[in-house]
Amino acid sequence: MRSKRNFLAALTFLVVSTLSFNSCSERKKSDGAKVQERLNNTEIKYFTNGRKLYTQHCSNCHMENGEGLGRLIPPLKDSDYLLEDIGRSARLIVNGIAEPILVNDVQFQQPMPGVSSLNYSEVTEILTYITNAWGNEYGGINPEDIKEALKKN
Ligand code: HEC
Repeated sequence: MRSKRNFLAALTFLVVSTLSFNSCSERKKSDGAKVQERLNNTEIKYFTNGRKLYTQHCSNCHMENGEGLGRLIPPLKDSDYLLEDIGRSARLIVNGIAEPILVNDVQFQQPMPGVSSLNYSEVTEILTYITNAWGNEYGGINPEDIKEALKKN
């Protein structure tokens, strides 16, 4: 009797975990599809190049998954600060930032070095990637807007 109950419990566990594993991989697939729906072909090219530039210049600190590092490095995934003013984010990538900022109500205060060698197209590519990866859903970014924003340096 007892072992039958254990067997049933194990079976239920197996079924439930298989189901939730499946729905998880479904979600991943549809995330990928959504990027394709949100961005046109040119923007998808920006996204792909942006991912390479991100790996090269940013992922050391902000991590491959965009989640940052505790209280030291702010997240880019689900960051209110990043999306609040895309022009400001463009300038921050090039110039760096030294003053404390609030990201999702958490204060960060380590300085971030800028990458002054990036031109406006590369900044557009990085921004297209980080605002549309990891579940972020900003959509396309116009290089002309970023060019204008960077003139405010
Ligand atoms: C040396 C570590 C480091 C590197 C490399 C780095 N960052 Fe940062 N980043 C930080 C820190 C620390 C802050 C918080 C700065 C502050 O509090 O003033 C920050 C803040 C930000 C913010 C604004 C806050 C937020 O989370 O939305 C953005 C956007 C950002 N970084 C994007 C980038 C991008 C894109 C790159 C690559 C081009 C990059 N960072 C490279 C450390 C880094």
